Amino acid sequence: MIRKSPRPPVARGRFVRLLAGMGFVFAAVGWLIVNEQRRRARVAIRNAVLHAPPVARARLRRVWLWWKLRLADPWGRCRARLVADATGDVLEIGVGRWPNLKRYRSGDRLVGVDPNRRGVFLVRRRIRRFRPDAQIVYAPLEALPFPAASFDTVVSSLALCTARDQAATLGEIARVLRPGGRFLFLEHVRARGPLAAWLQRAATPLWSLLADGCHLDRATLAAITQAGFSIEMAEPTVGGWWLARPTYHGIAAPPLQPQSVPATTTSEAV
Ligand SMILES: C[S@@+](CC[C@H](N)C(=O)[O-])C[C@H]1O[C@@H](n2cnc3c(N)ncnc32)[C@H](O)[C@@H]1O
Repeated sequence: MIRKSPRPPVARGRFVRLLAGMGFVFAAVGWLIVNEQRRRARVAIRNAVLHAPPVARARLRRVWLWWKLRLADPWGRCRARLVADATGDVLEIGVGRWPNLKRYRSGDRLVGVDPNRRGVFLVRRRIRRFRPDAQIVYAPLEALPFPAASFDTVVSSLALCTARDQAATLGEIARVLRPGGRFLFLEHVRARGPLAAWLQRAATPLWSLLADGCHLDRATLAAITQAGFSIEMAEPTVGGWWLARPTYHGIAAPPLQPQSVPATTTSEAV
């Protein structure tokens, strides 16, 4: 019987490198083709919309708004109001892809922080487009890399539901706020009704997996008060996913003495 001699390691290494190189070239060409097709599709859609009769345009606009406000960003309507009160040196925590960015008033110093680098290219592109002077920092919310009393406004939109340690995050917000500063928040909290609250508690483990660690059943208003903030205004807003209601838009003043706060549980009433 003739035994095949094993392929020498040098030839195998070359083969693997060749395969990897070809894979890279194919992926790059594929990416360019897909990008070009997407660009052409965007141009075609824009032209079709621009040349459509007014009735069709109005209908398309309704579909677009429905998609954006009901599915893509159901809190979209509340964002402009939330950031309208941001003044001076502004820090937004848990920015994600930073949907609030373009709504900030220009002229103020604007810094965003998030523990998660996912979508960093998108965020940088948005910064270049809407606010080239804004800065993004990737750091845990429980240990913000800023000196004490360095911001006039801290904004949190749908971030405290995700923060791993809500009490520590609130303690950090209090620390970085200047005396007289303001904490602006848009947060969904645990429902008041027992059935809705039970549903939120039951759905949270799966929801958390699908929605980036978000908790539906947090008593966030109570946690803000426990952290020593005084809530000056908290209004339920319209919009938001059905299970993530109610959502509150609020303004809170930081404690006079930033304090270390006990960890809050998720089972407190709001
Ligand atoms: C639901 S998103 C909200 C994004 C954005 N602020 C908005 O208004 O749509 C929650 C954000 O909080 C961030 N986040 C907060 N605490 C986190 C933690 N402990 N671990 C991971 N991500 C956290 C996530 O990275 C995510 O960007």
